[in-house]
Formats: sequence, structure tokens, C-alpha cells
Amino acid sequence: MTEPTTDQAVPSAGGPPRGRVVTLRKKQSRRPVAPPGSTGPLLRTEGLTRHFKIGGGLHRHTLHAVDDVSLSIGAGEIVALVGESGSGKSTIARLLAKIYRPTAGEIFLQGRRLSAIRSRADLLAYRSDVPMVFQDPFSSINPVFRVSHGIERSLKLHRPDLSRAERKAEAIRIFEVVGLTPGTDVLERFPHELSGGQRQRVGFAQALAMRPKLILADEPVSMLDVSIRIGLLNLMTKLRDEEGVSILYITHDIASARYIADRIVVMYAGHIAESGPVEDVLARPRHPYTQLLVSAVPDPRAELSVAADTDRGEPPRVIDPTPGCRFRWRCPLAIEICHQVTPPLLELLPDHSAACHVATADAELKAFG
Ligand SMILES: Nc1ncnc2c1ncn2[C@@H]1O[C@H](COP(=O)(O)OP(=O)(O)OP(=O)(O)O)[C@@H](O)[C@H]1O
Ligand code: SF4
Ligand SMILES: [Mg+2]
Repeated sequence: MTEPTTDQAVPSAGGPPRGRVVTLRKKQSRRPVAPPGSTGPLLRTEGLTRHFKIGGGLHRHTLHAVDDVSLSIGAGEIVALVGESGSGKSTIARLLAKIYRPTAGEIFLQGRRLSAIRSRADLLAYRSDVPMVFQDPFSSINPVFRVSHGIERSLKLHRPDLSRAERKAEAIRIFEVVGLTPGTDVLERFPHELSGGQRQRVGFAQALAMRPKLILADEPVSMLDVSIRIGLLNLMTKLRDEEGVSILYITHDIASARYIADRIVVMYAGHIAESGPVEDVLARPRHPYTQLLVSAVPDPRAELSVAADTDRGEPPRVIDPTPGCRFRWRCPLAIEICHQVTPPLLELLPDHSAACHVATADAELKAFG
């Protein structure tokens, strides 16, 4: 289960390395991101927005959890969605999973608008294509039943063509794919007889049973011990490389994003701050906020100028916002326009975009001196 490695620490969830630290070498994708003959991304969003009404009466306000997010995920690609707590990552996952309805904007799967989905059959088909794996492996499996129950139920619902014997054989095959071996034995166990890592593998097995195109993995490893975490990260790259599944990997942890992802999308306060190829973005972040995030992960190869202790604030809860950059209260580069105009996400380099009035393609930002 352990892979040898060395150049990147995997810190504990949500923060800089502490306690036991395991080091990792980046996992390169062995698949072409877009298979020959394919056109366009697997999934894309256009201006995706989700607001929540909060308070009541005279104290009624609008919380902008996600605002105007346009992102894309290619076939056979792992995209890491990173950002501080409350930046809107899970809300995006829930929008993509069709748990939430967008306030505005649109989601397209292989070019097809999600808002056009009306029938239960189409919704079920979409949920098979885009299942979700949750953060807490202890709460995502029904403790009352053997683990075979969940996966066989899922197979019955999403693949009704299979006979009972075929369902059983398929459940064993999938369990072995996700490293739960011997499958016949593990399927007969109750959830409390499995470790946290094994339970999270059951979560991936249940997703895989649907023959997904894209798995939405919302902090799938953050509650696991560091050494177990690496096994799960490797499982995700295996699903990409061998099963051809795309993954939206949501995390606070830049190091693990770098380890497995092909591209990264950095969120700040409901907006995309920066996006692009993971190595490029993390080695030369153009947005001051990305610099700040990267600075928490020591990396001798990146020429970064941001010191972790120069952070000067907390991410805002975005309530009834006025125009302007949402990072302006923490940003030493802020100029007048940053207080008045929300910076658009602009492509500065091929496939590398940033939403910052002062970021440019070649200038190395020195946001924090
Ligand atoms: N159902 C809801 N009702 C009201 N506010 C919500 C709801 N869901 C999310 N929010 C708010 O939307 C914002 C974004 O939340 P979200 O859970 O997407 O953040 P996150 O980036 O996933 O954070 P974390 O890293 O802590 O999981 C937060 O301010 C949160 O309080
Ligand atoms: S737009 Fe202005 S405030 Fe926002 S990150 Fe860029 S320089 Fe800083
Ligand atoms: Mg979340």
C-alpha cells in the first residue's frame, strides 16, 4: 500500500505539515487527457452560481457561496479543487451532483445541459455518470448491513440488466479493483469490521459500480491517517489511468493535489482565483492568494516569495457583496480598481488563468514582498 517517494510532503488535513509526514513523488497520468476523437471537455460549467438566503425579516441577506464559476474537467483527468474553508468547494460538488440547483449558470456533461434533465430515468443516468464520494467514510455506509448490501443495491438500481449472479461477480470484481481483497471475504463484512481506509474504498467501489464518467470526491482522504491517505490517493490515480474515470478531487491540501492532479482550480470566497496545469500553477502562481496557499507547503523547487506568516486575515463569508476583488482586504498588491471592479478570470498563458487586476503572464508576482 505504501509507495516510495520523496519530494513532496503530505500534511495533515487542512494545514501545514505536522506530526508524521510522508513524502511523495508526483503521479503522472498515463492516459492522454482527451482520448483521440473526443471533442470538448467531459464536463464544464458556465457562470455557475449558488446563493443562499440567510436570516429573516429585516435581517434577510444573501450568502454568495459560489459566484460565476466556469470550469471544465476533461475525460481521464483529475482536477483538484482547492481553497480555504467556506470558499465554495463542496457547494460546487453538490451543484455538479445535482443535489443543489444553481441560482444561475449551467452545467454541461458531454455537451448536454443539465437543466434539460427532466425525467427520473435521465436523472438516475446522470447520477450514475457523476457519483459522489464523501469525506466521512464512517457515515457514508449503512452500518446495519454487510458491505455487499450497498454495492449490490447500487448495481441493481443503476445496472438492471445484470442478473443476481452477475451482480455478485461484478461486486467482487469492483472490490478487487479498489484494493479490497479478497473481494468475496470483504463483501461479507459489516462496516464496523473495516478500517477507515477500507470504508473509504467501499465508497469508491460504490461509485465505480455505476460505471461513472466522473467521480466527485469531496475531501475523501482528509479524515484518514497519513499512510492510509497515500493508498487512497494512489487508488484515485489508478481509477483515472486504468478505468478512465475523471475525478474532481476536493481538498485543502495542496501537496496531495499536486501528487495526483493534472489540473488545479483555486477557489477564494466563491470565485475561481486561478486555474491551470497543476505543476505550472504551483510552481509559478500568478494570483496572490495562490501564492499564499502554496507558501504553507515547503517546496524547494518553487521560487515563492510569500511567507506563511504574512497572511493578514480570514476568508470572508460572502454576504451581499459589493463589486471588487474578494481578496482585496488581504492583498498587499491591491490598487484602487480592486475595490471597485471584480477581476475577470483571464487566460494569461495557455490553459492557465487568473482573476487578478495586476497578474500578468510573465511578471513574477511579489505579493508579500
Ligand atoms: N445549505 C446552506 N445554507 C446556507 N449556507 C450554506 C449552505 N451550504 C453552504 N453554505 C455556505 O456557503 C459557503 C461555502 O460553503 P462550502 O461548504 O461550499 O465551503 P467549502 O469550501 O466546501 O468549505 P470546507 O473546506 O470547510 O468544506 C459557506 O459560507 C457556507 O456556510
Ligand atoms: S485583483 Fe487586486 S486585490 Fe485582487 S488579488 Fe489582484 S491585486 Fe490583489
Ligand atoms: Mg467542503
